[in-house]
Amino acid sequence: MRLPDRVALITGGGTGIGRAIAEIFAKEGARIAVTGRRKAVLEETVEAIRQAGGEGIAIQGDVSQIADAERMVRTTMERYGQLDILVNNAGVIVRNASVTSVAIEDWDRVLNINLRGVFLVSRFALQEMVKARRGSIINISSTSGLFGDFGFAPYNASKGGLNLLTKNMALDYARYGIRVNAICPSLVATPMPRTRLKPGEDFEQAVQEWGKNFPLGRVGRPEDVAYAALYLASDEASWVTGIELVLDGGITASHPPSSGTWPRLTEHSGSALDL
Ligand SMILES: NC(=O)c1ccc[n+]([C@@H]2O[C@H](COP(=O)([O-])OP(=O)(O)OC[C@H]3O[C@@H](n4cnc5c(N)ncnc54)[C@H](OP(=O)(O)O)[C@@H]3O)[C@@H](O)[C@H]2O)c1
Repeated sequence: MRLPDRVALITGGGTGIGRAIAEIFAKEGARIAVTGRRKAVLEETVEAIRQAGGEGIAIQGDVSQIADAERMVRTTMERYGQLDILVNNAGVIVRNASVTSVAIEDWDRVLNINLRGVFLVSRFALQEMVKARRGSIINISSTSGLFGDFGFAPYNASKGGLNLLTKNMALDYARYGIRVNAICPSLVATPMPRTRLKPGEDFEQAVQEWGKNFPLGRVGRPEDVAYAALYLASDEASWVTGIELVLDGGITASHPPSSGTWPRLTEHSGSALDL
């Protein structure tokens, strides 16, 4: 067990990367609270945790709403009496969104969830962690927080902001024994990249094609991110704070990235930049 006697709150824990983190943390001994807007998927995660012998609760809510963010932390504290790990994983994306083409409502929505949401949930969680003089916060950022993508204006801005918010929190709360780190994955096969599909395109087939652009020959799996989060959450990372841990199958090791079917280079040329 790498997370014995720990309690973890995982935002966006009903699907994709968040669900993998919830299930793997639970197997490693943590008691889990998952949050998100859709109750049904949260309950599926909790059921999977229970089936595997773990303990979990679902807290429905929207990270961008102050009252919901406060309630996520309060409910976790009421249920378990402690909060040791916060994974800020909830996030959304809009594509074909340059500064001139993005709807202002979409800009606000992405920034409100991906950046303000992290700020809000962290604000309430940190109040508990400061009292306990320990904690680990893991922000699921993106390689889109490190490099620009065509047509990703709000997503790039939100994840770039998240990377520096991570460093700020690492500095401000190190004195309380709280570590704050970011994970920056490239393309991971979850519901999120389904929005990349062209009409009629099969997801599994597209994942195979996209994978050819990665030096390691495949896109990421939710578990790849979950095991990195497990390391950062555990005592094994007790000297690690303020980092951006890049998980990308090697794609950012080359500059420029390999060409071909990599969607970043092909998908957005044209419409995103239409004025
Ligand atoms: N997949 C990738 O290629 C990739 C790459 C790099 C980084 N990431 C990041 O990884 C994180 C997880 O994404 P994913 O790939 O696992 O996609 P996903 O399956 O779409 O997960 C996103 C989760 O966030 C939740 N969420 C969205 N808005 C929310 C809100 N306002 N309040 C609470 N929960 C909210 C969603 O649940 P509800 O809709 O029910 O609220 C969903 O469970 C995101 O931050 C994403 O930016 C993904």
